[in-house]
Amino acid sequence: MFISIVGAQFGDEGKGKITDFLAKQKDLVVRWSGGSNAGHTIKFNNKEYKLRLVPSGVFKDTDLLISGNAIVDPILLNEELTYLASNDFVAKLYVDEECIVSLPIHKKIDARNDMILNIGTTKSGIGPTVSDFAARIALKIKDVLSGDYKEKLRNLLKIHTDYLEEEYEENLKALELLKTIPVTYVTRECARTDFIYASRYTNVIFEGAQGTMLDINHGTYPFCTSTATISSAIPYVMGMGYDFPEISIGVFKPYVTRVGNGAFKTEILEGSVKEHLQTLGKEIGTNTGRTRRVGWLDLYDLKQAKELNDFNSLAITKLDVLTGLDSIGVLDTRKNWWNFNGWQTDITNCKNYDALPSAAKELIDFISKSINTPIETISVGADRTQTIER
Ligand code: GDP
Ligand code: IMO
Ligand code: MG
Repeated sequence: MFISIVGAQFGDEGKGKITDFLAKQKDLVVRWSGGSNAGHTIKFNNKEYKLRLVPSGVFKDTDLLISGNAIVDPILLNEELTYLASNDFVAKLYVDEECIVSLPIHKKIDARNDMILNIGTTKSGIGPTVSDFAARIALKIKDVLSGDYKEKLRNLLKIHTDYLEEEYEENLKALELLKTIPVTYVTRECARTDFIYASRYTNVIFEGAQGTMLDINHGTYPFCTSTATISSAIPYVMGMGYDFPEISIGVFKPYVTRVGNGAFKTEILEGSVKEHLQTLGKEIGTNTGRTRRVGWLDLYDLKQAKELNDFNSLAITKLDVLTGLDSIGVLDTRKNWWNFNGWQTDITNCKNYDALPSAAKELIDFISKSINTPIETISVGADRTQTIER
């Protein structure tokens, strides 16, 4: 089965947690978009792990593939694999040599550009790398593997900067790291035929990065990321026709967060509810350490996300964060405001839907009906075990 897991809001919906929860050892988990601008947190056995590029199946010992339009920062990838190994996790990682390489120069340009543009990017260099890709000056992993990279790197640096030899050396070192990283490189064709289509896996899970509202085409341009984030991009970037994924899961929180700038219809600008959501939800960016802006659930946007991604299943995360609020605001699909009763009892140990307080069930049912999609996964805490399946 081909399964897509994408964020239905502005990122940080808990895609990592849900991917880790659903992945089984005989699956393949694929990162197909974005790059190290993502930050996915997974918690189990009282430990929290943070990933930016390696697919979140790593803790379930699945095979892993970075492919499609994913952007690979060699320094970050190397660091992440070292971090995983130091925690005794060996990533069985395959990397498509068509992936685009992000270099130190791109981070520099990102930081400089954002001082002018004020998008509030993650400064991971992703935007400038994608610009170079569109301009056809970015390097692909295969350039490095085939030895055809020194001239290309010089050209890239000449186009962007007053060419400095020290800059060349720094970026060259990053590029050459690719040759020593403990991954198995595969061609795009192999990624497609030997991995995706070969029926070696029970499921192929396509783990999304960022969120629907950050999509370069369908998001809140220009306050968005630089790549496609929605499920219909998967077949395109993987080169696989158009008739998949079979299961499209949208991950969302019962409130909204956003890091970076841009429109936010339901934002709560001040007061105790804002503090409640930020504090209990630990709404601080994994990568950037920035406090996330918070607001009430926006079903109008969630319905757009359903349509854009053809969701046939929803996963709600962080339901526990609402515990203790007297009243819960919701903007419905017609942009009318609703107030739902809150609940005061701790739900972090609830093991099934029936055990949830009736106010929580009312909210879940309202969302499910409004979006016309079943909510099949309910997360009531950060830990892997704090997950209810319906
Ligand atoms: P992603 O980028 O979509 O993978 O999400 P992040 O990992 O960046 O942000 C989600 C944060 O919420 C992480 O710190 C998770 O550990 C945490 N989290 C996920 N699900 C739950 C939940 O149900 N309850 C609580 N309290 N935290 C959760
Ligand atoms: P995950 O996968 C939340 C946001 C940035 C900024 C905009 C552009 O963890 O959900 P970029 O660095 O991509 O050029 O920044 O997009 N952004 C994210 N916000 N979660 C993410 O990833 C994000 N990736 C990018 O904050 O507003
Ligand atoms: Mg995140």
